[in-house]
Amino acid sequence: MARSQLASRIERESLRWIAERVPWSTWDGTFTSGGNEANFSGLAIALAAHFPNAMQDGIASIGAQPVFYSSSEAHHSLDKSAGLLGLGRSALRRIAVNDRVQLDIAKLEAAISQDRTAGRRPFCIVATAGTTNSGAIDDIVALADVCHGHNLWLHVDGAYGAGAIFSNAHRDLVRGIERADSITIDPHKWLAMPFSAGVILTRHPGTLRSAFEVSTPYMPRFVGADPNVLDNFKISSQWSRRMNSLKFWLTLRVHGRAAYEELVDRQLCLARHFAEWVRSCEHFELAAPVGLPIVNVRVRGENESEVAAANQRVVDEVTRDGRQWISVTNVAGRSVIRVMVISYLTSERNLQQLQSALTTAAERITQKTLASSG
Ligand SMILES: Cc1ncc(COP(=O)(O)O)c(C=O)c1O
Repeated sequence: MARSQLASRIERESLRWIAERVPWSTWDGTFTSGGNEANFSGLAIALAAHFPNAMQDGIASIGAQPVFYSSSEAHHSLDKSAGLLGLGRSALRRIAVNDRVQLDIAKLEAAISQDRTAGRRPFCIVATAGTTNSGAIDDIVALADVCHGHNLWLHVDGAYGAGAIFSNAHRDLVRGIERADSITIDPHKWLAMPFSAGVILTRHPGTLRSAFEVSTPYMPRFVGADPNVLDNFKISSQWSRRMNSLKFWLTLRVHGRAAYEELVDRQLCLARHFAEWVRSCEHFELAAPVGLPIVNVRVRGENESEVAAANQRVVDEVTRDGRQWISVTNVAGRSVIRVMVISYLTSERNLQQLQSALTTAAERITQKTLASSG
């Protein structure tokens, strides 16, 4: 079919299935290479919606510095996007998180009013549904209220956590997501697709076009062609593109949504059992609440630099033979060990193996520390 209409229609149907789960009846969207590009697209349409001349005439035509907000734990693709959109990375205001690792609403309100007083132009808030480090989900309802009050675009970076919309039982994890103006969701994260498959979706049809539409003399034109011909290049930063939707479309056609219901449920269950084990554990403690199947664990201790060193040694020991993969990261400035259940193959037995590897590593490290101080 001309202009890859079959691929475009399969992509469109896949997007509609996602939109129906949000649930949105009016929407526009496109598949991307992943969350990085989807977040870039979300910010581009937020900018174009707020400052209609910005795409054509540039940021300078706004006459003041546009700024946007996320939590300090939000993904680094926002920094990259701010630079690439010409806003400058300093346009991203990273707001501290509360003890649930969620963007702190009072601090956000204070930052918005400071920016306004200084003559800057807030245009967007990015809520994260599933932070990379902890799987924390911002309070989307509260952020939607703030956006409503200040006339700001709400983009939800649900690259990971927005997958919860495919579960009837756990959809509440991302309560309020339907109030977003745009959403990033990566089928290649919680929806178990191989790389790569990301999605940007908006409930404002036309906004993707206002950011990305161009006309080209070299695209074939067909006399009498259907005016509804789908041209993804008009709603995307991509020109040549892979058909990233096919695997997702086939998965839903073959296995159905119920398979995702089961996957989400099983992985949450595994992570919660693992967290229970940590709570009762002599060597480790939980370092953040468990929202999604990511568990942040710390070696018990008071001194931050000693705990950070111990966390690193534990991870080195556990990952040495290549049979399991966990990592060290920082959450709200504190070192944590990050354990994530992401493969649909992961079972209770794998987590029991991890528990015993963690225990052995902690015991070995404690013995070494005692030996060197004795
Ligand atoms: C919260 C979040 N947003 C965006 C991204 C970027 O996604 P991708 O790697 O698909 O470009 C990630 C990746 O880890 C992420 O965790």
